[in-house]
Amino acid sequence: TEATSLPQKDCSSITPPYPKLLKNLATVSRILDNRPLTLAEKILYSHVHDPERTLASGGIKRGETYLQLMPERVAMQDASAQMALLQFMSAGMSRCAVPASIHCDHLIQASEGADKDLERSIVTNQEVFDFLESAARKYGIEFWKPGSGIIHQIVLENYAAPGMLMLGTDSHTPNAGGLGMLAIGVGGADAVDALTGTPWELKAPKIIGVHLTGQLNGWATPKDLILHLAGKLTVRGGTGAILEYFGPGVFNQSCTGLATIANMGAEVGATTSTFPYTPGMRAYLQATGRAPVAAAADKAAQNGYLAADKDAQYDDVIEVNLSELEPTINGPFTPDLATPLSKFGSFIQENGWKDDLSAALIGSCTNSSYEDMTSVADLARQAKQAGLKAKVPFLCTPGSEQIRATIERDQITSQLQDVGATVLANACGPCIGQWKREDKKGEENAILTSFNRNFKSRNDGNKLTMNFLASPTVVTAMAFSGKLSFNPMTDSLPLPSGGAFRFAPPRGQDLPAAGFTPGETGYYPAPTPEPQPETQVVIRPDSQRLELLAPFGSPFGPGSGNERGLELPPLQVLMRVRGKCTTDHISAAGPWLKYKGHLTNISENLLITAVNDEGGDVNVAFDHEHSPAESETDTIPAVAKRFKARNQPWALVVDDNYGEGSAREHAALQPRFYGCAMIVARSFARIHETNLKKQGVLPVWFVDKADYGRIGSGDIVETRGLAALLEGRDTSEHAIRLRVTPRAGGAPFEIPTRHTMSADQLKWLRAGSALNHIRAQIAG
Ligand code: F3S
Repeated sequence: TEATSLPQKDCSSITPPYPKLLKNLATVSRILDNRPLTLAEKILYSHVHDPERTLASGGIKRGETYLQLMPERVAMQDASAQMALLQFMSAGMSRCAVPASIHCDHLIQASEGADKDLERSIVTNQEVFDFLESAARKYGIEFWKPGSGIIHQIVLENYAAPGMLMLGTDSHTPNAGGLGMLAIGVGGADAVDALTGTPWELKAPKIIGVHLTGQLNGWATPKDLILHLAGKLTVRGGTGAILEYFGPGVFNQSCTGLATIANMGAEVGATTSTFPYTPGMRAYLQATGRAPVAAAADKAAQNGYLAADKDAQYDDVIEVNLSELEPTINGPFTPDLATPLSKFGSFIQENGWKDDLSAALIGSCTNSSYEDMTSVADLARQAKQAGLKAKVPFLCTPGSEQIRATIERDQITSQLQDVGATVLANACGPCIGQWKREDKKGEENAILTSFNRNFKSRNDGNKLTMNFLASPTVVTAMAFSGKLSFNPMTDSLPLPSGGAFRFAPPRGQDLPAAGFTPGETGYYPAPTPEPQPETQVVIRPDSQRLELLAPFGSPFGPGSGNERGLELPPLQVLMRVRGKCTTDHISAAGPWLKYKGHLTNISENLLITAVNDEGGDVNVAFDHEHSPAESETDTIPAVAKRFKARNQPWALVVDDNYGEGSAREHAALQPRFYGCAMIVARSFARIHETNLKKQGVLPVWFVDKADYGRIGSGDIVETRGLAALLEGRDTSEHAIRLRVTPRAGGAPFEIPTRHTMSADQLKWLRAGSALNHIRAQIAG
């Protein structure tokens, strides 16, 4: 079933309803006194639900107003789709309110190469794939089976369209911004909003303008632009904001290059990233069988929809001259530690690290476009001609079946294999820890990847693996040197025959001259299939990987055991978490991925890599009310489990940017499952904060960050003012105060907090979760 050329697609369900969007935008613009708008504002505001009603009170203030939005599509990957679907199922609907797709990519483990890995991973994950496939059939969702590719690449190739608003249950969903749209990474609970047709709420983001001038040249690639920006903005710099690129430097880049930039906007915490409609986007739509979408977008652009208005105001503007951009390498362990390539050798030396590279990895959702692959193949050809082979394991992950088949047809794959590359399955693999790496266990070593994320242990589960991020071409060139200090722009490599070899700057091609080929057509689902309600969704009763969800109870009212009315019951503080606490710390990936659909089992990993600020130990919590048979200290999940067994609701005290990193809703579900009712933070990462609200956990911010150190484990915390907030008597952001009774004695004291709960989010809190609220509405 290998097809040779890409057919035109049926574009009816993938063309944004531009006339309707423009009409909606006109209504919002009128409410905003026709002030000039940025592109991101236009896309957001054209998707506002019932603008006359929802915006009647006071227009829109960026960073303040909560928008009720109607996304047009939902995409889910196999790990996060499980919980999203389990939640959707319990909402009681017979079909999805918007088109949706499921992508089997995260559960494929990389080990020996594409075919064997795929075969083995299908067997290992059969029950999950059966569950996803049966749920997709029942509710009319497009199902992309294992081997079809990585969610973001498939979305870009098939669904993304200029001006569209989409939600995806993965933090790199913004990748689709490369096609001039807003694609936002969310948790499964937010996806359920869109799937049930419930307006999805988002605080109107600030808009950071990135003004691009000049032109990329030599070794500099779009990846280097975002690596450079990550260094400037840091992992927090984009929080609560959309990165909107504009200026002449946007227009001479390929659509897939823009997608790489948008993809890694997630690394600076941005809500998403977008670009005005470009000729590169038009060409990409046409090359991927979507000429009618391009034609409709052309028309929408003529009507002023797909670019910012002249004089549009940004909250901040960053200037980048692409002509001056140098290749950049970021890491280890954080994506914002940016070092220009020319300084990387001395950076390694100054830190006293070994100069050896242990593996080079290219591809992933971030960098596996045709342009990326032809660029690295150019380097492979040059190296082969010089008689060189990769000195370290060199792994390549194609982003989709379409890319795999096209690069195979165009002999790019064979050129990479000629110099020693292993081509892995079209899936996430080593990017998400699905890398069966045997050679460096427990050993300090350095790898270079063209991926997007580099938290400790992310790729191979070894916390001593220093993981650096770079463009695919820099990664490839380094693979031939095996040395981190090698600068391919200036340094030569010794040849076996004597003499020296220097790479010429790589040249790629953005689109294949012979067009894309879809490859195995069996991988492609029918577009917008009809639901088959008679389908039985497959969950084995003895399954260790899937479990139907039992709704969380409301903390208020009859049956809650709470005698404080609309205040939370008294909460015992489980621990004070020190420093960086990403969603990986709260709910680790790697081996735990297999329990994504089983809340009881996956909760065993709660906060297992978090540092307890009282004592500084990892995965240690104190149980001050332990029974004689129990120890005073135990692992964090074990103590949380004890609290649950005692019906003791609890709170966490956490540091800055708590929950950064991903849309992993398990990081919110798991504490809630064990009885967490409130988290008090110096600050929250946006997606995670929303996820906590969805699951009925109250997130509050310290007004005075120094108060963080005044609350410790075993202290009792009571809310004050929550009832007034829930009843609408005090709607201020400072409505909630906390009364703290220290465990060690001493006088109780009160601290002020700030909250970001909207009126609707308060309904979720009251109902016990957003899902409880939705179900009651459908039933009622
Ligand atoms: Fe997969 Fe890594 Fe992208 S996990 S979706 S390849 S960020």
